[in-house]
Amino acid sequence: MNWKELEKRAYIPYSRKAKACVIKGSSGSFYPGVRIENVSFPITIPAVQAACSFCLANGDTPQAIILKDDHPLEQQDYWVKEFNLNIIVQSDIDNIEFEDPSISISSSDVKTELISLLDKAITTHSDFPVSALLFCKEGVITGTNVEVSEWTKGLCAERLAIAKAISYGFTVLNSMSLHTLKGEFSSPCGACRQVIHEHMPDNKIDFHHADGTLSTHYTGDLLPFSFSSTSLTK
Ligand code: THU
Repeated sequence: MNWKELEKRAYIPYSRKAKACVIKGSSGSFYPGVRIENVSFPITIPAVQAACSFCLANGDTPQAIILKDDHPLEQQDYWVKEFNLNIIVQSDIDNIEFEDPSISISSSDVKTELISLLDKAITTHSDFPVSALLFCKEGVITGTNVEVSEWTKGLCAERLAIAKAISYGFTVLNSMSLHTLKGEFSSPCGACRQVIHEHMPDNKIDFHHADGTLSTHYTGDLLPFSFSSTSLTK
């Protein structure tokens, strides 16, 4: 892996400015993060937020940030302060290996996996754990919500799963299952709907509700009359 290959994974149809970084966790594992833009610009996920969130969702603690050069990335200051990160500028990342983020799971185990994933959610503010499974061509990606000191720097389970799939180079996002332990009706927030719409506009999503019931929806129905990226990227 080199910086160019990692940057190629960035989803940047609007700015065309690829950004990437690598977070080293205190466990010794490495986590890649790329910039993931959205047609609704404030919900763009910066590379540093993505990589730090994957590290945290994995039960690890961000320890160092590895950068291609000394140009600061979006949100870098916040995350460096939050975790007292060492900043390492490294022109090549050939020696860095990323773990396979996917899990193996059979369709009958989806609910059990969603329930056990809830334990990985970091819900310092809300005490409202959410779990997601994102079924991609390349494998199944997990997501949980991650909250940090600043409420607006947190990521929902659904967006974390999508950002992880993209940062790890997964290319086809097929369907998603999600679960909330406490809500009466498990359902993605507006920001997640917008991000889901951008990457999976016509796919199935299963909501596993707290009462044990399940409802299946098309992602397109979750955001009717949506603002879409096609006209902007022409
Ligand atoms: N949350 C999700 O993870 N997904 C959603 O779609 C709804 C909200 C999280 C965000 C925050 O950590 C907590 O639930 C309360 O909003």
